[in-house]
Amino acid sequence: MTEIINTVHDWRKIINTENLINKNIGFVPTMGALHSGHESLIKKSVLENDKTVVSIYVNPTQFNDPDDLKNYPKTFESDFEMLKKNNVDYLFFPKYGDLYPDNYAYKVTESNFSKILCGAHRPNHFDGVLTVVLKLLNIISPKRAYFGEKDFQQYTLIKEMCKAFFLDVEIIPVSTVRENDGLAMSSRNTLLTEEDRKSAPFFSKLLKSLKSDSEITVELEENGFKVDYIQTISGRRFGAVHLGKVRLIDNVQL
Ligand code: PAF
Repeated sequence: MTEIINTVHDWRKIINTENLINKNIGFVPTMGALHSGHESLIKKSVLENDKTVVSIYVNPTQFNDPDDLKNYPKTFESDFEMLKKNNVDYLFFPKYGDLYPDNYAYKVTESNFSKILCGAHRPNHFDGVLTVVLKLLNIISPKRAYFGEKDFQQYTLIKEMCKAFFLDVEIIPVSTVRENDGLAMSSRNTLLTEEDRKSAPFFSKLLKSLKSDSEITVELEENGFKVDYIQTISGRRFGAVHLGKVRLIDNVQL
């Protein structure tokens, strides 16, 4: 059975009454619209911990584009089915007022790695991500928290934030899950038109090719992608492109 918890107060009550303090809690934060990529994080958490908590919260502070926030897919019924099927113990499903009693007066800012790659193209995005993740980790108090490598910059920033603030949590990376044609699974893939969905895998294919970052950029632009960046850092090639109204990101270890 998956129990739905709506407030911080209710979660604190559960921790005390069921004595979860002595149990290892695994935590998978999400924004819903769950797919097989999320499922692989959930399965790993269920396997490695006594109890698993998944959160679903579409965090407004990390969206720099109001249309992106408005159009973010919401699939609560099927999300909840997936959680039940995978024996998730708790779904944390808060509202803005629960997570932001300060109305976002306080925030976490990282001043180096968050300013490049996606951070250079989505102003303040990582402030929103880091702030909500810090809040969620403080609320849930997990032993381990799971993040997908598709958002490798996000995973790295979260891991380093936990070190910087001495949080007693293990941040566990999980490999990117791909469609059969190589496209990295993403909640935003469902927003692609039929035609764009056919061309999308070209992005992942080029990222892992032997071509240079600038050759890949040119080739993507010639094939109808609008490129935010293609950049290799320490042997990992990162990319972000727009296809129609949808922004796709991916990265591969070279
Ligand atoms: O990767 C996501 O889905 C979000 O950025 C996260 C980590 C749940 C924070 O809102």
